[in-house]
Amino acid sequence: MAHLCLLKGLGDVVLFDVIDGLPQGKALDLLHSAPIENFDAQVSGTGKYEGIAGADVCIVTAGLARKPGMSRDDLVGTNAKIMSQVAEGIKTYAPDSFVIVITNPLDVMVTLMKRVTGFPKNRVVGQSGILDSSRYRSFIAQELNVSVASVAALVLGGHGDDMVPVRSTCQISGVPIEKLISDKRLDEIEARVRKAGGEIVSLLKSGSAFYSPASAAIRMVEAYFFDKKEILPCAAYLEGEYGVQGLYFGVPVIIGEGGVEKVVEIDLNSQEKKAFEVSLTRVKELLQSMDRLLAEKVRKVKSQK
Ligand code: 2OP
Repeated sequence: MAHLCLLKGLGDVVLFDVIDGLPQGKALDLLHSAPIENFDAQVSGTGKYEGIAGADVCIVTAGLARKPGMSRDDLVGTNAKIMSQVAEGIKTYAPDSFVIVITNPLDVMVTLMKRVTGFPKNRVVGQSGILDSSRYRSFIAQELNVSVASVAALVLGGHGDDMVPVRSTCQISGVPIEKLISDKRLDEIEARVRKAGGEIVSLLKSGSAFYSPASAAIRMVEAYFFDKKEILPCAAYLEGEYGVQGLYFGVPVIIGEGGVEKVVEIDLNSQEKKAFEVSLTRVKELLQSMDRLLAEKVRKVKSQK
């Protein structure tokens, strides 16, 4: 992400990590590419939250990545603790920033980020649907041997194995996908989309996807910085839209200078609505288990005192 920011001339970059030496080393390496790539932005690394003071945008990837065989949801306990600390740091040192969360399980981590920072909903958003939709589009483009630019598609819902590839939005230059690919084959492609993050984890064996989540987050930054009013599928805080109240979930939103400026409501067919509900139930359950884990932690801390 830092590399993309610098190549695209989006501004100065501060890398933050608790592992001493890692952000500093990466920053130095990136800095040395500046004369070759011809950018004049500053890039530095830090392990102290003061280092992010005054940031315009904070992109949060902090947390453990899953290991082969794990689902994103298995990370909830560990990453909730990390997310709470990171959110405190952002609240203190970058109180006016636009915050993009990437950490998994995404929908509940971004909900926690909003809760801890207390930032308004337009300034806290989760990156998920751009990546998932991009995976859908790239598999479809491969299948038909056409440019990715000719493929439109949306994936909505939670960023988990129950995410919802919205077939009715999938078109090749305006032609509905169902006219070009059989239902059976589309079922297979959509199943692969749902598991694509896991497919990468099982290939890498350590760590998860890097390049595509990074590109997705930077696309959101560009929409914000350049006031593009771009419609992008993201995890947004819902207050009644799509019949959902008080949590983050993947829906199309408009991103511009005001951050998440609007949730866009689109029609889903009955099958898609059902899948949307299944995904929503999963995110709600996960939120409950995160709350239980966090409450246990508070109880333990109190009993130690
Ligand atoms: C993925 O789907 C890391 O959640 C990210 O690959």
